[in-house]
Amino acid sequence: MQVKHQFSLKELNTFGIGVFATAYCAAETEADVLEAIGQTSLPVFVLGGGSNILFTEDIQAFVLHNKITGIEIVEESDSDIIIKAGGGEVWHSFVLWCIDKDYGGIENLSLIPGTVGAAPVQNIGAYGVELKDVFHSLEAIDLLTGNTLTFSKEACKFGYRDSIFKHEWKGRLIISRVYFQLTKKNHKLHSSYAALKSELDKQHITDPGILDISRAVIAVRQSKLPDPKTLGNAGSFFKNPEISRELFLKIQEKYPSIPHYPAAEGLVKIPAGWLIEQRGWKGRRKGNCGSYEQQALVLVNYNDATGKEILQLATEIIEDVYDHFGVKLSPEVNIM
Ligand code: EPU
Repeated sequence: MQVKHQFSLKELNTFGIGVFATAYCAAETEADVLEAIGQTSLPVFVLGGGSNILFTEDIQAFVLHNKITGIEIVEESDSDIIIKAGGGEVWHSFVLWCIDKDYGGIENLSLIPGTVGAAPVQNIGAYGVELKDVFHSLEAIDLLTGNTLTFSKEACKFGYRDSIFKHEWKGRLIISRVYFQLTKKNHKLHSSYAALKSELDKQHITDPGILDISRAVIAVRQSKLPDPKTLGNAGSFFKNPEISRELFLKIQEKYPSIPHYPAAEGLVKIPAGWLIEQRGWKGRRKGNCGSYEQQALVLVNYNDATGKEILQLATEIIEDVYDHFGVKLSPEVNIM
């Protein structure tokens, strides 16, 4: 395990922001994690795939890169299987591994950037499925004590793009192993999400299997979301806001076609991308960054933007949407 100093994180975040970490090391095993935390007095910052983060300044910390890998079957019955995956596994590679073995449940989460260990933190979700639907439990190492802790599904307190790892345990753990409960037969398919359904129709697939769904999800994502390898971005920059029914009706009066979905506690969820597009930001470029032309919710780095520039753009969008609609957008991306 090699510790590097004044290490550039540019290649390690999908926005492609060129900041430096005071110290950096990649942990491939639990033993590496213990060795790393035992030898530094700096605060430890855990980095996964860097796909949901915006760095706005140099990181005065010991960056611990989660590279813990390995995929293993833990338990299986005729119909179900429990699989353990290392927190540093690339998420999409893990999805493809499962589909190849015909284990169902995570096909709708194909092509989401990032790692297995980061997936529970924000309860990743797409096309009608969320991580919590297939999650069994996880193991994490407490960065202060070095103890290994186990979190059941209930203990994770999953919500929309939310979990206990964004609150009580924020910054205090490295998620080393995640256990998934998947199906071996009679897969429960989720193909009713509008964009997914129309892609399957386009391909004349009426009775899809998990491979068809994965392929359709990949096609939809590729058509709407920029590939971070060619255009820096971190997926949806904002969460879809949940607003009061009263405010929703007020907006709907003026904009009868506003898309909306029921949310918990009588609230109404509306797409942030729609609000941003209505305000004319979609495809608009400001300096080195902008809102993506196919999906307003995604902010992109056109050309060596700094994190501060992207944050400034995000702030302008938040203020403009708030002034016009009275809706406060909050970032989905972790801003450092
Ligand atoms: N819309 C617009 N303009 C836009 C973007 C969207 O009017 O520029 C409207 C669409 O017409 C549609 C609605 O908003 O009526 C929803 O759009 P879409 O299906 O593209 O999904 P989203 O709500 O914008 C969410 C997730 C995505 C996920 C998709 C599909 C959040 C913050 N984002 O986006 O997740 O892939 O649904 O399930 O919940 C991510 O988290 O990084 C991410 C990409």
